[in-house]
Amino acid sequence: MAEKSKILIIGGTGNIGKFLVEASAKAGHPTFVLIREGSVHDPVKSQLIGNFKNQGVTLLYGDLHDHESLVKAIKPVDVVISAVGRTEVEDQFKLIAAIKEVGNIKRFFPTEYGSNVDAGHPIEPAKSGYARKAKIRRAIEAEGIPHTYVSCNCSFGFFLPTMAQPGATAPPREKILFYGDGQPKAIFNKEEDIATYTIKAVDDPRTLNKTLYLRPRKNIYSFKELVALWEKKIGKTLEKIYVTEDQILQMIQDASNEDKIMLVVNFSIFMKGEQTNFEIDPSSGVEASELYPDVDYATVEEYLDQFV
Ligand SMILES: NC(=O)c1ccc[n+]([C@@H]2O[C@H](COP(=O)([O-])OP(=O)(O)OC[C@H]3O[C@@H](n4cnc5c(N)ncnc54)[C@H](OP(=O)(O)O)[C@@H]3O)[C@@H](O)[C@H]2O)c1
Repeated sequence: MAEKSKILIIGGTGNIGKFLVEASAKAGHPTFVLIREGSVHDPVKSQLIGNFKNQGVTLLYGDLHDHESLVKAIKPVDVVISAVGRTEVEDQFKLIAAIKEVGNIKRFFPTEYGSNVDAGHPIEPAKSGYARKAKIRRAIEAEGIPHTYVSCNCSFGFFLPTMAQPGATAPPREKILFYGDGQPKAIFNKEEDIATYTIKAVDDPRTLNKTLYLRPRKNIYSFKELVALWEKKIGKTLEKIYVTEDQILQMIQDASNEDKIMLVVNFSIFMKGEQTNFEIDPSSGVEASELYPDVDYATVEEYLDQFV
């Protein structure tokens, strides 16, 4: 059997990154994580880093803004997976420069983990967020770096604990903002499964220079279906506050920064159907649950039980 690729994860202390580190180590890949010196002093992150060590992960110290540290970290590995946050997307140009200089990377996964940034027509501030990720894609392609883009759609943790309600800290039990007619379908994936599928793609020639779309059949819901599922679980019908397109656009204008992000993505996903209003083009994309039917992925249906 071919040896498993050595994987370097950048952003391994982040919300998505920590699951990538665990999945990589669990799958038996020699796993390296680039850690920023400052994170070691953060009590939560230092515990996470301690867990990485216990899993046999090699810790390397560096920063996207420190070219030498990147080159040193990339040299011993075959694959680089980035999971840096949305505010660091463009800093990945520095990572691309280091990958190019080292020259031995078999696969690069830039930070993505959302909707397909080459499709859809998001509005601001999501529009420039998508454009930044698309710019990184174009730079990777222009440099001829072998790559995979992971489009995992909605992560469970970002949407389900609040049922996509801006400012909420728990799923609603009385009233719910109901987006449009609630018909367009959205796709949900648990963070652990996003990581598992990503790591499976690393040494798979079928995902080379392709987008890996995560569309597990049991986790595709319209907003209407999602609300109905939640109502069934709590045994109660919620009062619906129906929001039209014009109303949500006005709400977006008036919202605080964090709520704005939530409302903008809700508009694109639940009202415009950006995650499911296109077919996967087999010349540029593959679907994860079809490639890896052995993954026993978590379902929205089970996940919501913890909030009942
Ligand atoms: N589909 C969804 O529902 C969804 C939801 C949220 C996010 N996302 C996407 O998922 C991706 C990851 O986001 P996230 O929320 O997981 O990120 P995050 O929690 O903000 O983590 C960012 C990571 O990048 C590291 N980092 C930041 N600046 C760095 C630098 N200069 N050099 C090296 N490392 C640096 C951070 O390290 P420190 O620990 O040192 O700070 C941390 O490990 C993004 O592309 C985001 O758009 C998708």
